[in-house]
Amino acid sequence: MKGIILAGGIGSRLHPLTRVTNKHLLPVYDKPMIYYPMQVLVDAGIRDILIVTGGNSAGDFLKLLKNGNDFDLQQLNFAYQEGEGGIADALRLAEYFARGEKICVVLGDNIIESSIRGAKEVFERQLHGAKILLKEVPDPERFGVPTIENGKITRIDEKPKHPASSFAVIGIYFYDWTVFNRIRSLKRSARGEYEITDINNSYLRDHQLTYEILEGWWTDAGTFESLLQASSLVRAKTLEKSQQIANVRAA
Ligand code: DAU
Repeated sequence: MKGIILAGGIGSRLHPLTRVTNKHLLPVYDKPMIYYPMQVLVDAGIRDILIVTGGNSAGDFLKLLKNGNDFDLQQLNFAYQEGEGGIADALRLAEYFARGEKICVVLGDNIIESSIRGAKEVFERQLHGAKILLKEVPDPERFGVPTIENGKITRIDEKPKHPASSFAVIGIYFYDWTVFNRIRSLKRSARGEYEITDINNSYLRDHQLTYEILEGWWTDAGTFESLLQASSLVRAKTLEKSQQIANVRAA
């Protein structure tokens, strides 16, 4: 399976922080934001990775990540998204890289506590279609929100005013190769973007969408509040790990 990190867009919700630099280069506690989705893929055993970036400071990703040395990778791949056509528009640029293989797509501003290795392994055995991950949140209206009936997702709404459930579709998606055909048939949404939610609904219509509930915490980092929350959560986790190591050494 190949990994794709979407790190384009102009990060307008974080202006003026993102006026001269890219959102995914901003610090989240002790590392640049892009390090977290990188680590998620590497920890899941996915080592063939494409970063789609755009907007400000696109060249700085290369300067920062080089060939993926900090993640024990020998090589990294990059693509450049012109403009801000939306998440599905950025994903379109990964078709050549994917070469018909299954892909795991991670939004560059999504940060999670636990591993997705289990979900990845389940998706490897799924014959076709897509898999999404859900997390219960206090503010579902900020996200893609599933309607769930008898344990089955029946539709997904992007940022609904009146959410049908308290779950968010998080920014980690597993797709088969048909995703690129589905992108070609998308139309721009009311906010002028090609929406990842429309892709997920397309799989749903074909009865090819499975889901899992993510374990551990999850946050995006695309607003002032969530960026701060991301740093606090990562800091708490880092300190907890250091304490565990100290305890083992002392024992
Ligand atoms: O965080 C999960 C949510 O992400 C999902 O629940 C929503 O369904 C999904 O639409 C998305 O919502 P956001 O409004 O939070 O997405 P945002 O525009 O902040 O973009 C998230 C990431 O996607 C961003 O960090 C980089 C990438 N992106 C986004 C756009 C608009 C691109 O690479 N290119 C783009 O043009």
